[in-house]
Amino acid sequence: MKARILRIDTAHPLYGQEVDLRERVLLKPLGLDIEKLRNMYPEQEEESKHIVVVIDHPTGELVIGCIHLRPNCPEKGIGKLSQMAVDPQRQNEGVGRILVAEVEKMAVGELGLHEIYCHAQAPAVGFYKKMGWSIEGEMFSEADIEHYKMVCRLSPPDPDATAQAQTIQLDLDGV
Ligand SMILES: CC(C)(COP(=O)(O)OP(=O)(O)OC[C@H]1O[C@@H](n2cnc3c(N)ncnc32)[C@H](O)[C@@H]1OP(=O)(O)O)[C@@H](O)C(=O)NCCC(=O)NCCS
Repeated sequence: MKARILRIDTAHPLYGQEVDLRERVLLKPLGLDIEKLRNMYPEQEEESKHIVVVIDHPTGELVIGCIHLRPNCPEKGIGKLSQMAVDPQRQNEGVGRILVAEVEKMAVGELGLHEIYCHAQAPAVGFYKKMGWSIEGEMFSEADIEHYKMVCRLSPPDPDATAQAQTIQLDLDGV
């Protein structure tokens, strides 16, 4: 089945599905929803780049994965990855790997970042390690969940890199 990776924003028709996925997979288990998150981090939703993976479904386009990258946070040259979620029915099919690869490509090739970090929930640490990311510092608690800061240092941008298309066609095995 074909899947597509798209850059969207909060005005995009698929934003509602992105929020629904995040609430189901990430926020509700922490006792949060989008409104609470917006109150906690007022500018994050608008200032982050939103990337989603969609498949065609009889009901229309279906968002099965999402990720955010907030550039120059907390300082110029560094980006924060957050809101990484894959539909439980589509986990372990390579969707998460594609989302992280796309964020890394965007960070170094388009945004000129030299480092990305995230606050990884303890059960997801193994996933980020597989993506080549490293733990930095000690375990800490956020929303009553054990987290680790994980970091990816990026190589300098490829001068031959061309601007990314808004829509990229993907072939995902099994998706
Ligand atoms: C963590 C998550 C984003 C991974 O996405 P995914 O699409 O299932 O991951 P992929 O299929 O791309 O996996 C890539 C590799 O990581 C491994 N992997 C996936 N989740 C893992 C985990 N939790 N721990 C260790 N390894 C993991 C896979 O086995 C695969 O390994 P392989 O390449 O050797 O086969 C997804 O499971 C998820 O949404 N979990 C719930 C929300 C969450 O924890 N978000 C992150 C919060 S910090």
